[in-house]
Amino acid sequence: MANGRGAWKSKIGFVLAAAGSAVGLGNLWKFPYLTYRFGGAESSEGKGAGGFVLICLISVVAVCLPLMVAEILIGRRGGRNPVGSFRTLRPGTLWSAVGFLGVLGGALILSYYSVVAGWTIEYVWKAALGQFSEYGEKVSDEEVREKWCTDNKVKGQAECDALFSKFLDGFATTEERERVLLEKRLEIYPQRLFAEFVGSPGKQILYLAVFVLLTALVVAGGISGGIERWNRILMPLLLAMLFFLVVSVASLPGAGKAVDFLFRPDFSLLSVEEVLWAIGQAFFSLSLGMGALLTYGSYLPREARILPASAAIAGLDTLVALAAAFVIFGTIFSFGLKMGGQGIGNLFTAIPVIFMHVTGGHVLTVIFYCLAAFAALTSTVSLLEVVVAYLIDERKVTRKKAVILSAVAIFFVGVPCALSFNVLQGFRPLGTTVFETLDYFCSNLILPVGGFFIAVFVGWVLTQEERTAELPEAGATLYRFWLFSVRFVAPVAIVALFVGLLLGKVSG
Ligand code: PHE
Repeated sequence: MANGRGAWKSKIGFVLAAAGSAVGLGNLWKFPYLTYRFGGAESSEGKGAGGFVLICLISVVAVCLPLMVAEILIGRRGGRNPVGSFRTLRPGTLWSAVGFLGVLGGALILSYYSVVAGWTIEYVWKAALGQFSEYGEKVSDEEVREKWCTDNKVKGQAECDALFSKFLDGFATTEERERVLLEKRLEIYPQRLFAEFVGSPGKQILYLAVFVLLTALVVAGGISGGIERWNRILMPLLLAMLFFLVVSVASLPGAGKAVDFLFRPDFSLLSVEEVLWAIGQAFFSLSLGMGALLTYGSYLPREARILPASAAIAGLDTLVALAAAFVIFGTIFSFGLKMGGQGIGNLFTAIPVIFMHVTGGHVLTVIFYCLAAFAALTSTVSLLEVVVAYLIDERKVTRKKAVILSAVAIFFVGVPCALSFNVLQGFRPLGTTVFETLDYFCSNLILPVGGFFIAVFVGWVLTQEERTAELPEAGATLYRFWLFSVRFVAPVAIVALFVGLLLGKVSG
């Protein structure tokens, strides 16, 4: 670009980078977990997640896709980072504060997201070493008994011993008994590995540092030489690995049930909470509301068309989320497993259990965690670029200096997040750990607030000429549909999300 800020070398490079931003832990962890929760997969009469999935899809098309177009539009028209873009478009107004909120959000999300992203590296390593398959020897009989007693809510040592022996006596054959005990060991072992891992402050800080460093190295390479180049390598690899997993799971007996579970809509029990969660999930998953796509849009050449690019980005993100959910549910239903627990740990405790049941599961587990690591990296890169672009454009520092400054600062904010799982576990100034507080604050507050103002800015503040100049490809009907959503549907949906939050219908 003439202003020397760098630019995408190709349109596909932009689409891959933006899809790389969108596809992340939100798709691989949060989406399968939410469909599991709302679909009632645990009970045999589970209603299925079809209703929830459909609402997610509707949110993507009706709210998020129009908002994505709006965000990229601001970036290309403003030609700068979020603060600079708002300032260029409406100088001397308070609109640049919205951009500033985005930059702040980017830094904060990056600091806790990198902690979990770092876990994926350790898990690639664990999987490659075959640690998960050692559960047979590594778990003691006492541990199995304790787990059984906890699961069955049996209290007191004596009662636990007695009831557990009775349980064991209940099996007709030794093989049958051994099989069930082995299954319990498999449930216990990944949880123990996970607890040991997150319980180590040194390891948590080390992996956080490694992931921030990897992110910094990519971003330091610049737009086409770093971000575009790495996304061009990692995204096709990620898609190929996911395709391989989908094909592997498709031949399992539970594949059909997984499709049924995900796609057969049943609205009989759809709650307000589910609808609000679906909107929030679509938001986070598509990286909306904090200026990542705005910043990527600022490197987009004039002749590139925003509408089809946005459709491709949202389409890819949705496809990956559905494919990940299919892989997980296909395996769960084939072997009658449970996902167990709540929260971020699922990706690290449930996946090894799930894949240990499949032939070749060892390799699949390595593949899965590589996929998660790549997906996380392409997302952290987009978050760091928001902060770096701000420092370059507004504070006039070089890219290299901007990367070093922001990466160091983000690492330090990340430290208390990394320690939230061990030494700072009990430090809960606002009722939750530093990690949880930041996640709640960013996903439920900064992103929707940012999204709301982006919609209002594009829908009501920009002029008709400004909007249409950026969307020459839109026909009259499409344009009207888009504008209606940006003006009314998106802001109303976000306000509903907030009202839901305030009424306590949506929790973090
Ligand atoms: N969309 C990413 C994910 O699904 C997370 C993210 C949010 C990235 C906001 C950038 C900005 O994991």
